[in-house]
Amino acid sequence: MCGIFGYLGQDEAAPILLDALRRMEYRGYDSAGIATLCNGRLQRRRAAGKLTSLANLLVRNPILGRVGIGHTRWATHGKASVTNAHPHQSSHVAVAHNGIIENFREIRVELARHGITHDSETDTESAAHLCQYLLNQGMTPLEAARNTVQRLEGSFALAFLFEEEENLLIAARRYSPLVVGHGKNEMFLASDVIALAGLTSTVTFLDDGDLAVISRSGLEVYDFTGARAVRHRTQVSIDSTSAGKGSHQHFMAKEIYEQPRILAAAIKKLGEDAKLLVPDSIVQAVADSAQIELIGCGTASYACQIAEYWFENLAGLPASSGVASEFVHRHRRLEKDTLGIFVSQSGETADSLNALRHMRERGGRTLAVLNVATSTMSREADLVMPIHAGIEISVASTKAFTCQLIALVTLAISVGYQRGCIDKEKYEHHLDELGRLPGLSSAALSCDAEARSAAQEISGSASVLFIGRGTMFPLALEGALKLKEISYIHAEGLAAGELKHGALALVDSNMHVVALAPSGPHFTKTVSNTEEIKARGGQVLLLSDTQGLEVAPTGGWKAMTMPAIDPLFAPIIYAIPLQLLAYHAAVELGTDVDHPRNLAKSVTVE
Ligand code: G6P
Repeated sequence: MCGIFGYLGQDEAAPILLDALRRMEYRGYDSAGIATLCNGRLQRRRAAGKLTSLANLLVRNPILGRVGIGHTRWATHGKASVTNAHPHQSSHVAVAHNGIIENFREIRVELARHGITHDSETDTESAAHLCQYLLNQGMTPLEAARNTVQRLEGSFALAFLFEEEENLLIAARRYSPLVVGHGKNEMFLASDVIALAGLTSTVTFLDDGDLAVISRSGLEVYDFTGARAVRHRTQVSIDSTSAGKGSHQHFMAKEIYEQPRILAAAIKKLGEDAKLLVPDSIVQAVADSAQIELIGCGTASYACQIAEYWFENLAGLPASSGVASEFVHRHRRLEKDTLGIFVSQSGETADSLNALRHMRERGGRTLAVLNVATSTMSREADLVMPIHAGIEISVASTKAFTCQLIALVTLAISVGYQRGCIDKEKYEHHLDELGRLPGLSSAALSCDAEARSAAQEISGSASVLFIGRGTMFPLALEGALKLKEISYIHAEGLAAGELKHGALALVDSNMHVVALAPSGPHFTKTVSNTEEIKARGGQVLLLSDTQGLEVAPTGGWKAMTMPAIDPLFAPIIYAIPLQLLAYHAAVELGTDVDHPRNLAKSVTVE
């Protein structure tokens, strides 16, 4: 979603801003802009569409200056147009904003009473005009910025650039993340630490309610009332190499294909001692809880649903899962010793953060299972478990999903052992099987040709159903999500047993149904469900291992062949053909695979 970048230093700001915005492209956006100060005067360039449009505009019509702010906008209030693109300007101040200013209509009405009109449909422009109005009342830039943010309701990360103030950037945050980068005689401001790759690794993360005053000589932090706050610098390692696609056409393909290596590294990093994969403190916290709530959004919420089965079946713990945006609407009394497990790739998803805060307010403990270790969620949760997937760029999550599953199954196994639900022999067997997953993921990738051929057929469908039982049911939901988000084909995931309670009415010869049926306890029933589909003319794509494909009733289906696998770990390996299927369907249909329309990687608004 939207990205902010600020620069204050000795070099020309425009190319630095543009490069940094490129590093945040993966978040999703539909317009972009920059503003700089040249000889004290504000100059702006904005363009709808991709950053290449802005880059071309800057070639035709360059802007100079050693201080500036830039923004990639994912439209919320108002369409993706040049007028709505950030930075917004009100004579002497330019503003870039992430988040939603909830009371902007009220501010607009107030400003209109003073004869101030707006050009755009955005909430952000009101912040710029309000700040200018306060400057006109005789306030200094700092006072005007502070009084502006005091008036704003909602969530925001804001960057202010003031005319005639060549040595000043002001930033403020409430809920939306911001980080300040410290260079040599230069300073940076970013909404995503990856934007700082190659520029600096010394950073200060701003907290909620911080107002940052940035000059070439450093950073001062205040709260919104003007009291000084102390924030510490930290060193971060930002892996800029992940920002390349390697030999692949898309980031998504690269991220699917690197799973064997990433899964191996994640399993290793989860604990150097293979017999103690998860830190004691986390295992103990989960083992001691009376109830577990697993919460996430999108793909992460399906990892939660799969883990619900694992915590109940392996560790004997009552577990429930749900989507973060709904969790906050539930006011059920929490059992004593409830633990909330919040799963998020980015650790910045607004709904997941809200849910975590909701859980904390109600007295629950929180464990965040995260990919981005420096994220807001990592600073707010009681306990943090990293998944070690490396930087994920493609909007459609792939390797982060399989690494979330690895982390969660490892935790469930460790807790099951700790609680005496799993004996030593079983525990060691599970660890051995866990160690086979990187090799099995490689084997799963060899179904690429089958996936490509199935995708060609599916790409002509108006709708596709995905079915499974047990942990294959939430994986069916994830398979459907993957397909719809990047190929725009409508898809639905179902518990196979639910087919005949409604969706079977949709089945005719135009309907493709993807059945997830590894050999194991649910195989026979799932295959029976595919027979019901075939009997009605539906096209079945059966995902199973050689043994399963041999015993499945012949005829009427296409297959994708999976390696034989312990059913416990099947969702981790069966995720891969679903990723390949969605990827090839999207390529076949010519969509923008890494940046699907209307979607964002990091959803920082509710
Ligand atoms: C967006 C992304 C999805 C992701 C979801 C949750 O919708 O496009 O890929 O699964 O947010 O994100 P999180 O960072 O919290 O895992």
